[in-house]
Amino acid sequence: MAQQVRGVVARAKGEPVRIETIVVPDPGPGEAVVKVQACGVCHTDLHYREGGINDEFPFLLGHEAAGIVESVGEGVTEVAPGDYVILNWRAVCGQCRACKRGRPQYCFATHNAEQKMTLTDGTELAPALGIGAFAEKTLVAAGQCTKVDPAASPAAAGLLGCGVMAGLGAAINTGGVGRGDSVAVIGCGGVGNAAVVGARLAGAAKIIAVDIDDRKLATARGLGATDTVNSREHDPIEAIRELTGGFGADVVIEAVGRPETYEQAFYARDLAGTVVLVGVPTPEMRIDLPLLDVFGRGGALKSSWYGDCLPSRDFPMLIDLYRQGRLDLDAFVTETIALDEVEKAFERMHHGDVLRSVVVF
Ligand code: APR
Ligand code: ZN
Ligand code: ZN
Repeated sequence: MAQQVRGVVARAKGEPVRIETIVVPDPGPGEAVVKVQACGVCHTDLHYREGGINDEFPFLLGHEAAGIVESVGEGVTEVAPGDYVILNWRAVCGQCRACKRGRPQYCFATHNAEQKMTLTDGTELAPALGIGAFAEKTLVAAGQCTKVDPAASPAAAGLLGCGVMAGLGAAINTGGVGRGDSVAVIGCGGVGNAAVVGARLAGAAKIIAVDIDDRKLATARGLGATDTVNSREHDPIEAIRELTGGFGADVVIEAVGRPETYEQAFYARDLAGTVVLVGVPTPEMRIDLPLLDVFGRGGALKSSWYGDCLPSRDFPMLIDLYRQGRLDLDAFVTETIALDEVEKAFERMHHGDVLRSVVVF
């Protein structure tokens, strides 16, 4: 029997989101219904509501979540009712070119539930990133559920479902930060600060946090940054070079997604160093770099999709580290809120007041 639950819906571009009754069908083959316990508020949710992703309104927002599997459809073997899971938005297919090459973290054919959740009048909802977890229950593909240690609090665990994983993975997976490396992180919001934490976890000797907001720099220091640079007050390229013996950092992580910060990252890295772009640019943005510098400086210019994570490999491992006190996910939960406070949380996010507001059910 389809169920009716409350969910946060964006009906039209720029309009405040509202709580609506949504209809969640029983899971079909390969699908699961998950009782959501916590879901973080991410920029991408706001981006959907502002029409920045596509025009497929109405959207059911929320995609950074943890919860309990309530029921599964035919043929589902990877999870069972009662399992505690983090939802991921890249359920790998196992058959595409990337998967066949043994690189499932890049899967080119990730999938979501086939059935649609709807409003009570039958209008189909487009779930944010194929999840839609600002809802008491949501329907996803079973591959979007990654089972983890149930002792981890849902508010903290859910964060691995998006922004925090993106930042951790930018350092650990994409950047390949290693013991003794120097790392600079440009932009220290939820994603950038997670990159700071990732760099520390990987054994970086120097971690330079760069932001235009001193509040974010203070948080970065608390999370393991060894140096901070306010790039409104100091040229970040010069500052990073100065802090690295005049050379630049081995790995520079760009967690803003703008041409000027990308250029800073490009020139703030040492010869043969790595730039990781994890901030997401908008379509009109362009960069103009001397091709000779691209060649002459060597190294690698990489982008990081979802921290190049493989949920089945990375989520349980990171939750274990969290449980052991080696990964402070709680530090990213600035506040917990109720389902009807998402609009207010967008406002706070817009003003840079929070790393993450997390809806708890
Ligand atoms: N130089 C340095 N830092 C900047 C600049 C700049 N020119 N402009 C903004 N910032 C800082 C902000 O002060 C803020 O601390 O970048 C940070 C961005 O953080 P959030 O707004 O919290 O965004 P976050 O969730 O961390 O995501 C960052 O990654 O996944 C993408 O779409 C996401 O592009 C976004 C980026
Ligand atoms: Zn997100
Ligand atoms: Zn694939």
